[in-house]
Amino acid sequence: MSDLTEILILNGPNLNMLGIREPNIYGYETLADIEKLCNERASSLGLIINFKQSNLEGEIVADIQNARGKAAGIIINGAGYTHTSVAILDALKLSELPVIELHLSNIHAREAFRHHSFIAQAASGVICGFGSHGYVLAIDAMARLIECAN
Ligand code: DQA
Repeated sequence: MSDLTEILILNGPNLNMLGIREPNIYGYETLADIEKLCNERASSLGLIINFKQSNLEGEIVADIQNARGKAAGIIINGAGYTHTSVAILDALKLSELPVIELHLSNIHAREAFRHHSFIAQAASGVICGFGSHGYVLAIDAMARLIECAN
């Protein structure tokens, strides 16, 4: 296992509205509920979570830049920026960290504009369609990636 045990979990725009936002697609759990799930899973694996949400692209880019050399890996639900942001892709590449792309919904079963992801090009793997449980799956997968890299 890496000396660095912090996993950065980034959540993009509108994910602060989980629980009331299109619950038929995203479920009734809030982002705070999901953060709790993540903390429980991470602590059982000896990992620490830095869980963040931002509606601002530049803030997400800055968080990724700051993770370089500090975090062991990045799990990112880029939300709408997934499908638009070259800047987030570039930041993920320069971080030189293992990256897992995550979505609550199955983006491939939705509108065509959600089928393309810029983030995927920087990701070791993509988890989508499992709702909040996807965050738990992503933490498990990241624990494995970090272990394999060391
Ligand atoms: C999402 C899927 C995106 O297409 C959408 O813009 C979101 C949430 C998901 O978690 O399913 O905001 O990333």
